[in-house]
Amino acid sequence: MTSLSLTGPDAAAVKADVLVVGVAKGPKGLALAAGNAPVDKAFGGRLAKVLADLGFQGNEDECVRVPTLGQLGATSVVAVGLGDAKKVTAETLRRAAGAGVRAATGARRAATTLSLHAVDGAQRAVAEGALLGAYDFVKFRNASLEGRKEPVQSVTLLVGDPKDKAAVNAAKRADVVAQAVALARDLVNTPPGDLHPADLADIARTECTKAGCSVEVMDEKALKKGGYGGILGVGQGSANPPRLVRIEYRHPRATRTIALVGKGVTFDSGGISIKPAASMEWMKSDMAGAAAVVAALTAIARLGLRVNVTGWVPTAENMPSGAAIRPGDVLTMFGGKRVEILNTDAEGRLILADAIVRAGQESPDLIVDAATLTGAQLVALGARTAGVMSNDDDLRTRIVAASETAGEMMWPMPLPQELRKSIDSDVADITNTGDRYGGMLVGGMFLKEFVAEGIPWAHLDVAGPAYNTNDPWGYTPKGGTGVPVRTFVQLAEDEAAR
Ligand code: BES
Ligand code: MN
Ligand code: ZN
Repeated sequence: MTSLSLTGPDAAAVKADVLVVGVAKGPKGLALAAGNAPVDKAFGGRLAKVLADLGFQGNEDECVRVPTLGQLGATSVVAVGLGDAKKVTAETLRRAAGAGVRAATGARRAATTLSLHAVDGAQRAVAEGALLGAYDFVKFRNASLEGRKEPVQSVTLLVGDPKDKAAVNAAKRADVVAQAVALARDLVNTPPGDLHPADLADIARTECTKAGCSVEVMDEKALKKGGYGGILGVGQGSANPPRLVRIEYRHPRATRTIALVGKGVTFDSGGISIKPAASMEWMKSDMAGAAAVVAALTAIARLGLRVNVTGWVPTAENMPSGAAIRPGDVLTMFGGKRVEILNTDAEGRLILADAIVRAGQESPDLIVDAATLTGAQLVALGARTAGVMSNDDDLRTRIVAASETAGEMMWPMPLPQELRKSIDSDVADITNTGDRYGGMLVGGMFLKEFVAEGIPWAHLDVAGPAYNTNDPWGYTPKGGTGVPVRTFVQLAEDEAAR
Protein backbone atom coordinates (compact mmCIF):
# COMPACT_ATOMS: atom_id res chain seq x y z
CA MET A 1 0.00 0.00 0.00
CA THR A 2 0.98 3.55 -0.63
CA SER A 3 2.41 5.24 2.46
CA LEU A 4 1.15 8.52 3.87
CA SER A 5 3.07 11.26 5.69
CA LEU A 6 2.59 14.87 6.81
CA THR A 7 4.88 17.84 6.34
CA GLY A 8 4.79 21.62 6.84
CA PRO A 9 3.03 24.08 4.51
CA ASP A 10 5.99 25.20 2.38
CA ALA A 11 5.16 24.05 -1.16
CA ALA A 12 8.52 25.24 -2.49
CA ALA A 13 10.53 23.09 -0.08
CA VAL A 14 8.76 19.73 -0.29
CA LYS A 15 10.80 17.09 -2.16
CA ALA A 16 8.69 14.99 -4.51
CA ASP A 17 8.42 13.73 -8.06
CA VAL A 18 4.97 15.25 -8.36
CA LEU A 19 3.27 18.05 -6.43
CA VAL A 20 -0.52 17.91 -6.81
CA VAL A 21 -2.12 21.36 -6.64
CA GLY A 22 -5.79 22.30 -6.84
CA VAL A 23 -6.97 24.90 -9.33
CA ALA A 24 -10.56 26.13 -9.26
CA LYS A 25 -12.67 28.17 -11.66
CA GLY A 26 -12.93 31.65 -10.13
CA PRO A 27 -14.82 34.78 -11.22
CA LYS A 28 -11.68 35.97 -13.07
CA GLY A 29 -10.52 32.68 -14.60
CA LEU A 30 -8.34 29.99 -13.05
CA ALA A 31 -7.87 30.40 -9.28
CA LEU A 32 -5.01 28.61 -7.50
CA ALA A 33 -6.18 26.99 -4.25
CA ALA A 34 -4.73 27.82 -0.82
CA GLY A 35 -1.05 27.17 -0.17
CA ASN A 36 0.06 27.43 -3.78
CA ALA A 37 1.66 30.91 -3.71
CA PRO A 38 5.22 29.43 -3.58
CA VAL A 39 4.36 27.26 -6.59
CA ASP A 40 3.06 30.25 -8.50
CA LYS A 41 6.22 32.17 -7.59
CA ALA A 42 8.38 29.39 -9.05
CA PHE A 43 6.49 29.87 -12.32
CA GLY A 44 7.20 33.60 -12.22
CA GLY A 45 3.70 34.34 -10.95
CA ARG A 46 2.23 32.97 -14.17
CA LEU A 47 1.14 29.41 -13.27
CA ALA A 48 -2.51 30.15 -14.10
CA LYS A 49 -1.42 31.51 -17.49
CA VAL A 50 0.78 28.45 -18.16
CA LEU A 51 -2.13 26.14 -17.34
CA ALA A 52 -4.59 28.15 -19.45
CA ASP A 53 -2.12 28.07 -22.36
CA LEU A 54 -2.14 24.27 -22.08
CA GLY A 55 -5.93 24.30 -22.43
CA PHE A 56 -6.60 23.52 -18.77
CA GLN A 57 -10.05 24.73 -17.66
CA GLY A 58 -10.16 23.77 -13.98
CA ASN A 59 -13.00 21.28 -14.35
CA GLU A 60 -13.32 18.44 -11.86
CA ASP A 61 -11.32 15.36 -12.86
CA GLU A 62 -9.20 17.44 -15.27
CA CYS A 63 -5.42 17.08 -14.78
CA VAL A 64 -2.37 18.53 -16.50
CA ARG A 65 1.27 17.89 -15.62
CA VAL A 66 3.94 20.59 -15.93
CA PRO A 67 7.72 20.26 -15.32
CA THR A 68 9.24 22.68 -12.79
CA LEU A 69 12.76 22.75 -14.32
CA GLY A 70 14.36 22.82 -10.88
CA GLN A 71 12.44 25.85 -9.63
CA LEU A 72 10.72 23.82 -6.86
CA GLY A 73 11.56 20.93 -4.55
CA ALA A 74 9.15 18.91 -6.71
CA THR A 75 10.20 17.80 -10.20
CA SER A 76 6.75 18.38 -11.69
CA VAL A 77 3.39 19.83 -10.80
CA VAL A 78 0.06 18.15 -11.50
CA ALA A 79 -2.71 20.73 -11.60
CA VAL A 80 -6.08 19.18 -10.84
CA GLY A 81 -9.38 20.95 -11.44
CA LEU A 82 -11.72 21.73 -8.52
CA GLY A 83 -14.60 23.17 -10.54
CA ASP A 84 -16.43 26.24 -9.20
CA ALA A 85 -14.25 27.84 -6.46
CA LYS A 86 -17.37 28.66 -4.39
CA LYS A 87 -18.62 25.07 -4.43
CA VAL A 88 -15.55 23.21 -3.20
CA THR A 89 -16.43 20.63 -0.52
CA ALA A 90 -14.40 17.96 1.28
CA GLU A 91 -15.62 15.49 -1.34
CA THR A 92 -14.36 17.78 -4.15
CA LEU A 93 -10.92 17.60 -2.55
CA ARG A 94 -11.15 13.84 -1.97
CA ARG A 95 -11.88 13.30 -5.66
CA ALA A 96 -9.23 15.82 -6.76
CA ALA A 97 -6.59 14.09 -4.62
CA GLY A 98 -7.54 10.77 -6.22
CA ALA A 99 -7.47 12.16 -9.76
CA GLY A 100 -4.14 13.93 -9.10
CA VAL A 101 -2.51 10.81 -7.69
CA ARG A 102 -3.81 8.75 -10.62
CA ALA A 103 -2.34 11.31 -13.04
CA ALA A 104 0.98 10.88 -11.21
CA THR A 105 1.04 7.10 -11.84
CA GLY A 106 4.59 6.05 -12.69
CA ALA A 107 6.11 8.60 -10.30
CA ARG A 108 7.37 7.36 -6.94
CA ARG A 109 6.77 10.24 -4.55
CA ALA A 110 3.75 12.53 -4.63
CA ALA A 111 2.99 15.49 -2.38
CA THR A 112 -0.05 17.75 -2.33
CA THR A 113 -1.18 21.17 -1.17
CA LEU A 114 -4.85 20.16 -1.49
CA SER A 115 -4.76 19.43 2.25
CA LEU A 116 -4.19 23.16 2.95
CA HIS A 117 -7.70 24.02 1.72
CA ALA A 118 -9.80 25.79 4.36
CA VAL A 119 -12.90 23.63 3.88
CA ASP A 120 -13.95 21.46 6.87
CA GLY A 121 -12.43 17.96 6.87
CA ALA A 122 -9.92 18.76 4.11
CA GLN A 123 -7.03 16.81 5.62
CA ARG A 124 -8.98 13.62 6.14
CA ALA A 125 -10.60 13.84 2.70
CA VAL A 126 -7.36 14.50 0.84
CA ALA A 127 -5.57 11.71 2.69
CA GLU A 128 -8.36 9.27 1.81
CA GLY A 129 -8.67 10.40 -1.81
CA ALA A 130 -4.92 10.16 -2.41
CA LEU A 131 -4.63 6.65 -0.96
CA LEU A 132 -7.79 5.44 -2.70
CA GLY A 133 -6.61 6.88 -6.03
CA ALA A 134 -3.33 4.96 -5.79
CA TYR A 135 -5.14 1.59 -5.81
CA ASP A 136 -4.10 -1.00 -8.36
CA PHE A 137 -5.07 -4.66 -8.83
CA VAL A 138 -2.31 -6.65 -10.54
CA LYS A 139 -2.51 -10.03 -8.83
CA PHE A 140 -3.77 -11.70 -11.99
CA ARG A 141 -1.37 -10.02 -14.43
CA ASN A 142 1.83 -11.62 -15.58
CA ALA A 143 3.08 -10.75 -19.07
CA SER A 144 1.24 -7.39 -19.04
CA LEU A 145 3.13 -6.28 -15.91
CA GLU A 146 6.15 -5.60 -18.12
CA GLY A 147 6.43 -1.84 -18.67
CA ARG A 148 3.31 -1.13 -16.65
CA LYS A 149 3.49 2.09 -14.61
CA GLU A 150 3.00 1.58 -10.89
CA PRO A 151 0.89 3.76 -8.60
CA VAL A 152 2.76 6.32 -6.47
CA GLN A 153 4.49 4.73 -3.49
CA SER A 154 4.25 7.62 -1.06
CA VAL A 155 2.00 10.62 -0.58
CA THR A 156 2.94 13.61 1.57
CA LEU A 157 0.23 16.01 2.70
CA LEU A 158 1.19 19.62 3.33
CA VAL A 159 -0.52 20.86 6.49
CA GLY A 160 -0.23 23.91 8.75
CA ASP A 161 1.37 21.89 11.55
CA PRO A 162 2.42 18.28 10.91
CA LYS A 163 2.53 17.62 14.69
CA ASP A 164 -1.06 18.83 15.20
CA LYS A 165 -3.06 16.02 16.81
CA ALA A 166 -6.09 16.46 14.54
CA ALA A 167 -3.92 16.23 11.42
CA VAL A 168 -2.09 13.15 12.69
CA ASN A 169 -5.39 11.47 13.59
CA ALA A 170 -6.92 12.33 10.22
CA ALA A 171 -3.99 10.69 8.46
CA LYS A 172 -4.12 7.63 10.70
CA ARG A 173 -7.85 7.19 10.18
CA ALA A 174 -7.50 7.66 6.42
CA ASP A 175 -4.81 5.01 6.30
CA VAL A 176 -6.97 2.46 8.14
CA VAL A 177 -10.03 3.24 6.03
CA ALA A 178 -8.10 3.16 2.73
CA GLN A 179 -6.65 -0.25 3.61
CA ALA A 180 -10.14 -1.52 4.31
CA VAL A 181 -11.48 -0.12 1.03
CA ALA A 182 -8.57 -1.75 -0.81
CA LEU A 183 -9.45 -5.09 0.80
CA ALA A 184 -13.07 -4.77 -0.34
CA ARG A 185 -11.95 -3.80 -3.86
CA ASP A 186 -9.53 -6.75 -4.01
CA LEU A 187 -12.27 -9.16 -2.96
CA VAL A 188 -14.67 -7.80 -5.59
CA ASN A 189 -12.01 -7.83 -8.34
CA THR A 190 -10.87 -11.39 -7.60
CA PRO A 191 -12.08 -13.80 -10.30
CA PRO A 192 -15.10 -15.84 -9.15
CA GLY A 193 -13.27 -19.12 -9.73
CA ASP A 194 -10.66 -17.94 -7.23
CA LEU A 195 -13.16 -16.78 -4.63
CA HIS A 196 -15.63 -19.51 -3.76
CA PRO A 197 -17.86 -19.06 -0.69
CA ALA A 198 -15.35 -21.05 1.41
CA ASP A 199 -12.54 -18.73 0.23
CA LEU A 200 -14.52 -15.62 1.12
CA ALA A 201 -15.20 -17.11 4.56
CA ASP A 202 -11.49 -17.95 5.00
CA ILE A 203 -10.43 -14.40 4.10
CA ALA A 204 -13.07 -12.95 6.42
CA ARG A 205 -11.68 -15.14 9.19
CA THR A 206 -8.04 -14.25 8.54
CA GLU A 207 -8.48 -10.51 8.01
CA CYS A 208 -10.99 -9.88 10.79
CA THR A 209 -9.12 -12.00 13.32
CA LYS A 210 -5.93 -10.08 12.49
CA ALA A 211 -7.78 -6.83 13.16
CA GLY A 212 -9.01 -8.01 16.58
CA CYS A 213 -12.46 -9.51 15.90
CA SER A 214 -13.64 -13.02 16.67
CA VAL A 215 -15.00 -15.01 13.73
CA GLU A 216 -17.24 -18.06 13.40
CA VAL A 217 -17.89 -19.85 10.11
CA MET A 218 -20.85 -22.14 9.53
CA ASP A 219 -20.22 -24.70 6.77
CA GLU A 220 -22.90 -26.49 4.75
CA LYS A 221 -23.36 -29.13 7.46
CA ALA A 222 -23.91 -26.52 10.15
CA LEU A 223 -26.27 -24.62 7.83
CA LYS A 224 -28.33 -27.76 7.26
CA LYS A 225 -28.48 -28.45 10.98
CA GLY A 226 -29.49 -24.85 11.66
CA GLY A 227 -32.20 -24.77 9.00
CA TYR A 228 -30.78 -22.04 6.79
CA GLY A 229 -32.96 -22.89 3.78
CA GLY A 230 -32.33 -19.63 1.90
CA ILE A 231 -28.54 -19.86 1.92
CA LEU A 232 -28.60 -23.60 1.20
CA GLY A 233 -31.18 -23.22 -1.56
CA VAL A 234 -29.19 -20.60 -3.45
CA GLY A 235 -25.99 -22.63 -3.01
CA GLN A 236 -27.35 -26.04 -3.92
CA GLY A 237 -26.73 -25.78 -7.66
CA SER A 238 -23.05 -25.10 -7.18
CA ALA A 239 -20.13 -27.47 -6.65
CA ASN A 240 -18.82 -24.90 -4.17
CA PRO A 241 -20.92 -25.08 -1.00
CA PRO A 242 -22.24 -22.03 0.87
CA ARG A 243 -21.18 -20.53 4.19
CA LEU A 244 -22.48 -18.14 6.83
CA VAL A 245 -19.83 -16.06 8.60
CA ARG A 246 -20.37 -14.26 11.91
CA ILE A 247 -17.81 -11.58 12.79
CA GLU A 248 -17.82 -9.98 16.22
CA TYR A 249 -16.16 -6.78 17.36
CA ARG A 250 -16.76 -5.70 20.94
CA HIS A 251 -15.71 -2.59 22.86
CA PRO A 252 -15.76 -2.81 26.67
CA ARG A 253 -17.43 0.61 27.04
CA ALA A 254 -19.85 0.38 24.11
CA THR A 255 -23.47 1.32 24.65
CA ARG A 256 -24.77 0.48 21.17
CA THR A 257 -24.68 -2.69 19.09
CA ILE A 258 -24.91 -2.66 15.30
CA ALA A 259 -25.45 -5.64 13.01
CA LEU A 260 -24.07 -5.36 9.46
CA VAL A 261 -25.22 -7.91 6.87
CA GLY A 262 -23.66 -8.25 3.41
CA LYS A 263 -24.77 -10.17 0.33
CA GLY A 264 -22.00 -12.57 -0.60
CA VAL A 265 -22.96 -14.19 -3.91
CA THR A 266 -19.49 -15.04 -5.23
CA PHE A 267 -20.89 -15.45 -8.73
CA ASP A 268 -24.44 -14.82 -9.90
CA SER A 269 -25.18 -16.67 -13.13
CA GLY A 270 -28.88 -16.29 -12.38
CA GLY A 271 -29.20 -20.04 -11.80
CA ILE A 272 -31.89 -21.86 -13.80
CA SER A 273 -33.38 -18.40 -14.60
CA ILE A 274 -30.02 -17.81 -16.27
CA LYS A 275 -28.75 -14.35 -17.17
CA PRO A 276 -27.87 -13.32 -20.74
CA ALA A 277 -24.19 -13.83 -21.70
CA ALA A 278 -23.41 -10.14 -22.24
CA SER A 279 -21.62 -8.66 -19.22
CA MET A 280 -22.24 -11.72 -17.08
CA GLU A 281 -18.62 -11.36 -15.87
CA TRP A 282 -19.74 -8.31 -13.88
CA MET A 283 -21.53 -10.74 -11.59
CA LYS A 284 -18.25 -11.56 -9.86
CA SER A 285 -19.08 -8.33 -8.01
CA ASP A 286 -22.22 -9.82 -6.46
CA MET A 287 -20.39 -10.28 -3.15
CA ALA A 288 -19.58 -6.56 -2.80
CA GLY A 289 -21.94 -6.15 0.17
CA ALA A 290 -20.16 -9.01 1.96
CA ALA A 291 -16.75 -7.56 1.07
CA ALA A 292 -17.82 -4.23 2.56
CA VAL A 293 -18.98 -5.86 5.81
CA VAL A 294 -15.70 -7.77 6.20
CA ALA A 295 -13.60 -4.70 5.31
CA ALA A 296 -15.60 -2.31 7.52
CA LEU A 297 -15.15 -4.64 10.50
CA THR A 298 -11.37 -4.64 10.03
CA ALA A 299 -11.38 -0.82 10.03
CA ILE A 300 -13.81 -0.46 12.96
CA ALA A 301 -11.68 -2.86 15.04
CA ARG A 302 -8.40 -1.17 14.10
CA LEU A 303 -9.83 2.23 14.96
CA GLY A 304 -11.05 0.80 18.28
CA LEU A 305 -14.43 2.51 17.96
CA ARG A 306 -16.54 2.55 21.15
CA VAL A 307 -19.39 0.49 19.72
CA ASN A 308 -20.23 -3.20 19.30
CA VAL A 309 -20.52 -4.47 15.75
CA THR A 310 -21.55 -7.90 14.52
CA GLY A 311 -20.97 -8.69 10.87
CA TRP A 312 -23.01 -11.32 9.05
CA VAL A 313 -21.84 -12.69 5.72
CA PRO A 314 -24.11 -15.20 4.00
CA THR A 315 -22.21 -16.44 0.96
CA ALA A 316 -23.16 -18.79 -1.88
CA GLU A 317 -22.59 -19.28 -5.59
CA ASN A 318 -25.71 -19.08 -7.76
CA MET A 319 -25.29 -21.69 -10.51
CA PRO A 320 -27.59 -23.71 -12.80
CA SER A 321 -27.23 -27.48 -12.54
CA GLY A 322 -29.21 -30.66 -12.00
CA ALA A 323 -29.10 -29.90 -8.30
CA ALA A 324 -30.14 -26.25 -8.56
CA ILE A 325 -33.37 -24.76 -7.21
CA ARG A 326 -36.10 -24.34 -9.83
CA PRO A 327 -38.77 -21.74 -10.40
CA GLY A 328 -41.76 -23.15 -8.50
CA ASP A 329 -39.71 -24.61 -5.66
CA VAL A 330 -40.52 -23.60 -2.10
CA LEU A 331 -37.71 -22.96 0.41
CA THR A 332 -38.10 -23.05 4.17
CA MET A 333 -36.05 -20.16 5.44
CA PHE A 334 -34.21 -19.79 8.75
CA GLY A 335 -36.98 -19.00 11.22
CA GLY A 336 -39.58 -21.04 9.30
CA LYS A 337 -41.05 -18.66 6.69
CA ARG A 338 -41.64 -20.39 3.34
CA VAL A 339 -40.67 -18.72 0.08
CA GLU A 340 -41.91 -19.68 -3.37
CA ILE A 341 -39.14 -19.18 -5.93
CA LEU A 342 -40.49 -17.53 -9.07
CA ASN A 343 -37.10 -16.48 -10.42
CA THR A 344 -33.84 -18.08 -9.29
CA ASP A 345 -32.03 -14.86 -10.24
CA ALA A 346 -33.62 -13.08 -7.27
CA GLU A 347 -31.20 -14.99 -5.03
CA GLY A 348 -29.61 -12.23 -2.98
CA ARG A 349 -32.75 -11.62 -0.93
CA LEU A 350 -32.90 -15.33 -0.10
CA ILE A 351 -29.45 -15.53 1.49
CA LEU A 352 -29.93 -12.12 3.14
CA ALA A 353 -33.28 -13.15 4.63
CA ASP A 354 -31.68 -16.04 6.54
CA ALA A 355 -28.89 -13.79 7.80
CA ILE A 356 -31.27 -10.96 8.78
CA VAL A 357 -33.45 -13.35 10.80
CA ARG A 358 -30.34 -14.76 12.49
CA ALA A 359 -28.96 -11.26 13.19
CA GLY A 360 -32.32 -10.24 14.69
CA GLN A 361 -32.19 -13.09 17.24
CA GLU A 362 -29.41 -11.20 19.01
CA SER A 363 -31.58 -8.05 19.34
CA PRO A 364 -29.05 -5.49 18.07
CA ASP A 365 -29.94 -1.78 18.26
CA LEU A 366 -30.05 -1.69 14.49
CA ILE A 367 -29.47 -3.84 11.41
CA VAL A 368 -28.04 -2.52 8.15
CA ASP A 369 -27.66 -4.73 5.11
CA ALA A 370 -25.75 -3.95 1.93
CA ALA A 371 -26.36 -5.80 -1.30
CA THR A 372 -25.88 -5.65 -5.05
CA LEU A 373 -29.54 -6.60 -5.08
CA THR A 374 -31.23 -5.28 -8.22
CA GLY A 375 -30.61 -4.02 -11.72
CA ALA A 376 -33.57 -1.75 -10.92
CA GLN A 377 -31.29 0.23 -8.58
CA LEU A 378 -29.27 1.31 -11.64
CA VAL A 379 -32.44 2.23 -13.52
CA ALA A 380 -33.73 4.33 -10.62
CA LEU A 381 -30.59 6.09 -9.40
CA GLY A 382 -27.87 5.54 -11.97
CA ALA A 383 -24.56 3.77 -11.56
CA ARG A 384 -23.10 5.90 -8.76
CA THR A 385 -25.88 6.51 -6.23
CA ALA A 386 -27.01 3.80 -3.83
CA GLY A 387 -30.62 3.49 -2.65
CA VAL A 388 -31.36 3.52 1.09
CA MET A 389 -34.59 1.88 2.26
CA SER A 390 -35.63 1.47 5.88
CA ASN A 391 -38.41 0.64 8.31
CA ASP A 392 -37.24 3.65 10.36
CA ASP A 393 -37.17 7.21 8.97
CA ASP A 394 -34.59 8.38 11.49
CA LEU A 395 -32.15 5.56 10.72
CA ARG A 396 -32.53 6.19 6.98
CA THR A 397 -31.74 9.87 7.52
CA ARG A 398 -28.69 9.02 9.65
CA ILE A 399 -27.34 6.65 7.01
CA VAL A 400 -27.76 9.17 4.19
CA ALA A 401 -25.98 11.75 6.40
CA ALA A 402 -23.16 9.28 7.16
CA SER A 403 -22.74 8.55 3.45
CA GLU A 404 -22.50 12.29 2.74
CA THR A 405 -19.74 12.70 5.35
CA ALA A 406 -17.95 9.62 4.06
CA GLY A 407 -18.18 10.72 0.42
CA GLU A 408 -20.35 7.87 -0.85
CA MET A 409 -23.47 8.90 -2.74
CA MET A 410 -26.72 7.49 -1.33
CA TRP A 411 -30.32 8.57 -1.59
CA PRO A 412 -33.44 7.80 0.50
CA MET A 413 -36.00 5.57 -1.21
CA PRO A 414 -39.48 4.54 0.02
CA LEU A 415 -40.92 1.13 0.83
CA PRO A 416 -44.48 1.62 -0.51
CA GLN A 417 -46.96 -0.70 1.18
CA GLU A 418 -48.93 -1.23 -2.06
CA LEU A 419 -46.01 -3.27 -3.46
CA ARG A 420 -46.39 -5.88 -0.73
CA LYS A 421 -49.28 -7.73 -2.40
CA SER A 422 -47.15 -8.34 -5.49
CA ILE A 423 -45.08 -10.81 -3.44
CA ASP A 424 -48.10 -12.75 -2.11
CA SER A 425 -47.72 -16.44 -3.04
CA ASP A 426 -50.43 -18.84 -4.25
CA VAL A 427 -48.80 -21.74 -2.44
CA ALA A 428 -46.33 -20.46 0.18
CA ASP A 429 -45.96 -17.50 2.57
CA ILE A 430 -44.31 -15.14 0.10
CA THR A 431 -42.69 -15.14 -3.38
CA ASN A 432 -39.18 -13.95 -4.17
CA THR A 433 -40.20 -11.61 -7.01
CA GLY A 434 -43.07 -9.19 -7.57
CA ASP A 435 -43.85 -6.02 -9.55
CA ARG A 436 -41.21 -5.20 -12.16
CA TYR A 437 -41.78 -1.48 -11.67
CA GLY A 438 -40.00 -0.34 -8.53
CA GLY A 439 -37.94 -3.53 -8.54
CA MET A 440 -35.45 -2.08 -6.04
CA LEU A 441 -38.27 -1.30 -3.63
CA VAL A 442 -39.81 -4.77 -4.06
CA GLY A 443 -36.45 -6.21 -3.00
CA GLY A 444 -36.57 -3.98 0.07
CA MET A 445 -40.15 -4.99 0.85
CA PHE A 446 -39.17 -8.66 0.69
CA LEU A 447 -36.26 -8.19 3.12
CA LYS A 448 -38.42 -6.14 5.50
CA GLU A 449 -40.56 -9.25 6.09
CA PHE A 450 -37.59 -10.91 7.78
CA VAL A 451 -36.69 -8.13 10.22
CA ALA A 452 -37.63 -8.91 13.82
CA GLU A 453 -40.40 -6.73 15.27
CA GLY A 454 -39.12 -3.46 16.72
CA ILE A 455 -35.59 -3.46 15.29
CA PRO A 456 -34.66 -0.44 13.15
CA TRP A 457 -33.30 -1.80 9.87
CA ALA A 458 -31.97 -0.29 6.67
CA HIS A 459 -31.17 -1.81 3.30
CA LEU A 460 -28.53 -0.36 0.97
CA ASP A 461 -28.89 -1.41 -2.67
CA VAL A 462 -25.38 -0.84 -4.08
CA ALA A 463 -25.73 -2.77 -7.36
CA GLY A 464 -24.27 0.11 -9.41
CA PRO A 465 -22.04 1.98 -6.93
CA ALA A 466 -20.09 -1.12 -5.79
CA TYR A 467 -18.67 -1.89 -9.23
CA ASN A 468 -17.51 0.66 -11.78
CA THR A 469 -17.84 -0.66 -15.32
CA ASN A 470 -16.88 2.72 -16.80
CA ASP A 471 -13.60 4.68 -16.81
CA PRO A 472 -11.89 5.60 -13.55
CA TRP A 473 -12.89 8.99 -12.05
CA GLY A 474 -11.72 10.87 -8.95
CA TYR A 475 -10.48 8.20 -6.56
CA THR A 476 -12.75 5.52 -8.06
CA PRO A 477 -10.99 2.90 -10.18
CA LYS A 478 -12.54 0.65 -12.77
CA GLY A 479 -13.96 -2.52 -11.13
CA GLY A 480 -14.58 -2.84 -7.39
CA THR A 481 -15.04 0.55 -5.72
CA GLY A 482 -15.22 -0.41 -2.04
CA VAL A 483 -18.72 1.10 -1.59
CA PRO A 484 -20.18 1.06 1.09
CA VAL A 485 -17.17 0.49 3.39
CA ARG A 486 -16.72 4.19 4.25
CA THR A 487 -20.41 4.69 5.07
CA PHE A 488 -20.33 1.64 7.38
CA VAL A 489 -17.27 2.99 9.22
CA GLN A 490 -18.83 6.46 9.48
CA LEU A 491 -22.10 4.99 10.79
CA ALA A 492 -20.16 3.04 13.44
CA GLU A 493 -18.35 6.27 14.43
CA ASP A 494 -21.65 8.12 14.63
CA GLU A 495 -23.17 5.34 16.75
CA ALA A 496 -20.11 5.36 19.03
CA ALA A 497 -20.70 9.07 19.63
CA ARG A 498 -24.42 8.71 20.44
N1 BES B 1 -27.03 -9.52 -8.66
C1 BES B 1 -28.22 -9.15 -9.34
C2 BES B 1 -28.44 -7.64 -9.39
C3 BES B 1 -27.45 -6.82 -10.17
C4 BES B 1 -27.73 -6.43 -11.47
C5 BES B 1 -26.29 -6.35 -9.58
C6 BES B 1 -26.83 -5.64 -12.16
C7 BES B 1 -25.40 -5.57 -10.27
C8 BES B 1 -25.67 -5.20 -11.57
C9 BES B 1 -29.42 -9.77 -8.65
O1 BES B 1 -29.21 -10.99 -8.04
C10 BES B 1 -30.47 -9.98 -9.69
O2 BES B 1 -30.24 -10.75 -10.58
N2 BES B 1 -31.60 -9.30 -9.55
C11 BES B 1 -32.67 -9.42 -10.46
C12 BES B 1 -33.95 -9.43 -9.66
C13 BES B 1 -35.17 -9.76 -10.47
C14 BES B 1 -35.09 -11.20 -10.96
C15 BES B 1 -36.38 -9.54 -9.59
C16 BES B 1 -32.64 -8.23 -11.41
O3 BES B 1 -32.31 -7.13 -10.98
O4 BES B 1 -32.90 -8.43 -12.59
MN1 MN C 1 -29.43 -12.59 -9.40
ZN1 ZN D 1 -27.31 -11.38 -7.40
